[in-house]
Amino acid sequence: MAAALVTGVSRRRGIAAAVAARLRTDGLTVVTAGWTPYDREQHKAIAEQTQTDLQADLGVSDAPAELIRAAERVAGPLSSLVIAHTRDTGGGVLEMTAETIDQHLAINVRGSLLLMREFARRVLEDGRTGRIVIFTSGPPQAGAVAYAASKGALEWVVYSAATELGPLGITVNGVNPGPNQTGWMSSELERALAERTPLGRTGRPEDAAALVSMLLSADAGFINGQVITSDGGFSIAGSSRPR
Ligand SMILES: NC(=O)c1ccc[n+]([C@@H]2O[C@H](COP(=O)([O-])OP(=O)(O)OC[C@H]3O[C@@H](n4cnc5c(N)ncnc54)[C@H](OP(=O)(O)O)[C@@H]3O)[C@@H](O)[C@H]2O)c1
Repeated sequence: MAAALVTGVSRRRGIAAAVAARLRTDGLTVVTAGWTPYDREQHKAIAEQTQTDLQADLGVSDAPAELIRAAERVAGPLSSLVIAHTRDTGGGVLEMTAETIDQHLAINVRGSLLLMREFARRVLEDGRTGRIVIFTSGPPQAGAVAYAASKGALEWVVYSAATELGPLGITVNGVNPGPNQTGWMSSELERALAERTPLGRTGRPEDAAALVSMLLSADAGFINGQVITSDGGFSIAGSSRPR
């Protein structure tokens, strides 16, 4: 049976938890990874947490490769890697510090690159094929400039890695879930964002999960190097002619 590793899964309301649930419904063996100390640091309710198969701080340089190896010990050879973890502690241009910049880049960018490297090496060693999906985001991210730098970098990682790994049988795609209600929006903000969205609501974790499911399906085998936005049209609505 095909096996997938999904990162960033500890929060029940998060997108990654919905991705893991959807992929299980699709019949994949899913290994989940999380880092609950981050959720505590962000004062996210412990009651919101779900048990993951593995815990790893992906900001530690050896952790990504070790996580891939641990996932394969649990599930056997991986066919898919879904990178959904993120650090996002905010901080605009005037507030950012060397430490917050380093943390975002180490966890979001370096962690993702090293996960990808170990996954690809192991897939290729065995002569298999694979799929990688990386969660990006959309600009601008005012007030969260280090997060923005990391997500912009990941978008270019998708294009570059897809070009390099595609000929070797591994596709790499990105998912931008748009404003997605995982608990961070007040009801006023959710209403305001919904009003700006042509489809009349904000995203749900299940929307992003459905897109990942499609990207890992047999039918998506020719999709490579794309960052696909699933946001009900939110990102293009600003260009509408006023009526
Ligand atoms: N929600 C949105 O509106 C939105 C919009 C655009 C893009 N996205 C992207 O979509 C993805 C999922 O979003 P989300 O809102 O569900 O995110 P989230 O609730 O913030 O979850 C991300 C998870 O990543 C994990 N993580 C943080 N630091 C880590 C570290 N050092 N090592 C390993 N894991 C760490 C956290 O812990 P656990 O693993 O313990 O959960 C965190 O809960 C993210 O990549 C995000 O950037 C989301």
